[in-house]
Amino acid sequence: MFIRSSASPISVVTGGAGFLGSHLTDRLLAEGHRVVAIDNFLTGSTANIAHLAGNENYRLIRHDVSNFIFLPDDVDFIFHFASPASPIDYLEHPIPTLKVGSLGTHNALGLAKDKKAAFLLASTSECYGDPLVHPQREDYWGNVNPIGPRGVYDEAKRFAEAITMAYHRYHHVNTHIVRIFNTYGPRMRLRDGRVVPAFIGQALAGEPLTIFGDGSQTRSFCYCTDLIDGIFRLSQSAFHEPVNIGNPREMTIRQFAEEIIRLTGTTSKIEFRPLPEDDPKVRQPDIARAKSVLGWEPRVEFDEGIRKTIEYFGTRMK
Ligand SMILES: NC(=O)c1ccc[n+]([C@@H]2O[C@H](COP(=O)([O-])OP(=O)(O)OC[C@H]3O[C@@H](n4cnc5c(N)ncnc54)[C@H](O)[C@@H]3O)[C@@H](O)[C@H]2O)c1
Repeated sequence: MFIRSSASPISVVTGGAGFLGSHLTDRLLAEGHRVVAIDNFLTGSTANIAHLAGNENYRLIRHDVSNFIFLPDDVDFIFHFASPASPIDYLEHPIPTLKVGSLGTHNALGLAKDKKAAFLLASTSECYGDPLVHPQREDYWGNVNPIGPRGVYDEAKRFAEAITMAYHRYHHVNTHIVRIFNTYGPRMRLRDGRVVPAFIGQALAGEPLTIFGDGSQTRSFCYCTDLIDGIFRLSQSAFHEPVNIGNPREMTIRQFAEEIIRLTGTTSKIEFRPLPEDDPKVRQPDIARAKSVLGWEPRVEFDEGIRKTIEYFGTRMK
């Protein structure tokens, strides 16, 4: 228990054993915070936080945040990252996804209100759905199919944004919303269905790289430490409207597959499969707001980030 024994801030990270939650934890500890991670390990892993064992500034609580959250400690910041995040995960866990986006966000906001803590919601570019505006600015309201298979994730996050703004307007909680665009890096799971681990895993195994559709759909990929830097800056700001954080460098899925083949030196070929329902055709953040409000822009070059990620997956596949 931390309660309040020193001046260093206390941060709660829900989803702290996940890919992004664990990188955020590392950054917060490096900034001198004490961190309480709360995770039910639905999609997270102890491997992501094994390096924190014995760290006296770190504590892990195994708990489902869709249920009431009780913490005796003082809390200064709450980072609400708990949610299945990859299509495979939220299609496999549709109800827990809806619950953690709605009930979980309500519980995390309630904790923030009770503790007079700042609150940051990990929202998503999926709020824009299959966008009719390109690139996507924060004032675009999106094009989401509420009853399609992906609706469980997209609508949960849209509800999460709505309740976050309501707590800000009605209860005056110091809230922040980050709309995260595709992010990649070490600690992603090889088979989580996201394109970066999928292609790297296939390339390293010498299997064909599978592209859904004709590969002309575009994505932009942000390296995890760049994203976390933007999120940390946002948490320190006085800005309450959503902010896109992502890398605007756009490429087609086909170009991306070709880059992975080049950088891994694999002999794998590319194979094409039918496009899943509601798969967005384009996705690129407009980061003008992040630049002006946070002085943030991505710094890690694509080759550098991908090389580090390939290296990580290389060790995981041995
Ligand atoms: N990675 C991306 O590119 C991306 C893009 C947009 C948004 N996001 C958002 O960022 C957050 C983290 O994503 P990630 O990529 O690290 O995913 P992840 O699956 O690696 O991490 C999510 C974590 O939340 C935990 N969790 C899920 N439901 C929970 C619950 N009810 N109670 C407690 N813990 C729970 C999981 O066990 C896991 O550790 C998510 O909210 C996601 O929607 C991520």
